[in-house]
This record gives sequence, C-alpha cells and structure tokens, in this order.
Amino acid sequence: MYKIITNPLIQIKLSIIRNKNTDSQSFYENLTDVASLMSPYVFADLNLKTEEIATPVANTLGYKASDKVLFVVILRAGLGFLEGFRRMVPFAKIGFLGMYRDEETLMPHDYYKRLPANLADYKVYLLDPMLATGGSACDAINSLKNAGAKDISFVGLVGAMDGIKKIEESNSDVKIYLASLDEKLNEKGYIIPGLGDCGDRTFGL
Ligand code: PRP
Ligand code: URA
Repeated sequence: MYKIITNPLIQIKLSIIRNKNTDSQSFYENLTDVASLMSPYVFADLNLKTEEIATPVANTLGYKASDKVLFVVILRAGLGFLEGFRRMVPFAKIGFLGMYRDEETLMPHDYYKRLPANLADYKVYLLDPMLATGGSACDAINSLKNAGAKDISFVGLVGAMDGIKKIEESNSDVKIYLASLDEKLNEKGYIIPGLGDCGDRTFGL
C-alpha cells in the first residue's frame, strides 16, 4: 500500500524545500513542518485507550495511545524528518540506522544500528525523506525484520516509482507514505525533480 499525502500546506512547504535557493535552516524548518503536517495521515489508525482525567471543573474520559510507537531514523537525512514527527508523537521511542549509498553502485552500506529490544511490540515508522532506487529503504526494512519488527511503515517526503516498486516486490506488507511521487530518477540515481542531496542540504554541506 502506498499513499501520497497531498495537503495544500504540505505542497507549499515542499516547494520551498525543493527550491535550490532555500538555505539549510529554512530547509530544515520546512522539513520539520511537513513532518508535522503529515502526522495526522500517517497516524490515522493509531489505537487509543481511555483514561479518566480531571478538568478544572469536572471529571471526564481522555485518550492515550494504546500502541507503542517507534521511529527509526535513517541517518543522515532522516534526522531532518524526526523533529516534526516527534512533536506530534512525543511518546514514541527512537532508534537509528546509519547507512549511505555508494555513489557509483548506488548500493546501501550500513555503518550504525541502535534499536530497542522487543521490536515486535512496536508499530515501527522508518523515517527517510528520500525514496529513490529503494535500496536503502529495503536494506533498513530487512534489518528491522531480522530484529523482529512485524508492523513497519516507511515515511518519506519525495519518492520515485522505482523505490515504491522495490519495496512492494520484496516487502508488500510495508505501508509507504510520501508527500510527493516524482517523475523519475536520473542516471546518478537522483530523484527528478526532487530536491537534490537531502543530507547535504539539511546539514549545510
Ligand atoms: C539518501 C537518502 C536515502 C537514500 C535513498 O541517503 O537519505 O537514505 O539516499 O536512495 P536509495 O533509495 O537509492 O537507496 P544517502 O545515501 O545520500 O546518505 P546521507 O543521508 O548520509 O546523505
Ligand atoms: N538521495 C538524495 O538525497 N537525493 C536523491 O535525489 C536521491 C537519493
């Protein structure tokens, strides 16, 4: 299943993010805002439990999440996507996978992993703004499944059909959320029109 979240406010902010004249601070702030704006769609099926709460004038029933949520950030670019989701889902735990794409072969290389125990207990949301060939996402999904994860969603900003197909072919149980499905990849594996190198633009390199 893949869903493209096309809220007008997201589209306006995504245009600022795409613009090559946007500096890294504004890039990061808009990425954070888009993550917050995507949250109601990504978490539409979050399960709740009730609890009794006291307002200043009466007792009533309030709600809490009954699901355990885990964000897994793919370094580096996923870091730019974390803050906005974390603001909306402050009770989530956070894990990390470090990987980079070899610029020649486009194959992902893993360099870091930090995940909680009992991954099967969590709804896991893999955060990486870019879904290009899908190599990094599939590598990350395999790592999560090998560690026991059963309920995985991939949450990205901009993607290409190549990446969606790659995930769907090998991991059809993984839900995919994006703010835009772009036209194609170029010969260097960059998303077109895309936004360039997301990690570099987030961190000002
Ligand atoms: C980018 C991006 C994804 C990957 C997507 O990371 O953040 O992880 O490329 O490409 P793929 O779908 O073809 O695998 P990159 O490898 O540039 O590392 P970085 O975040 O450290 O810059
Ligand atoms: N990674 C990026 O940062 N940008 C792309 O367009 C593709 C992969």
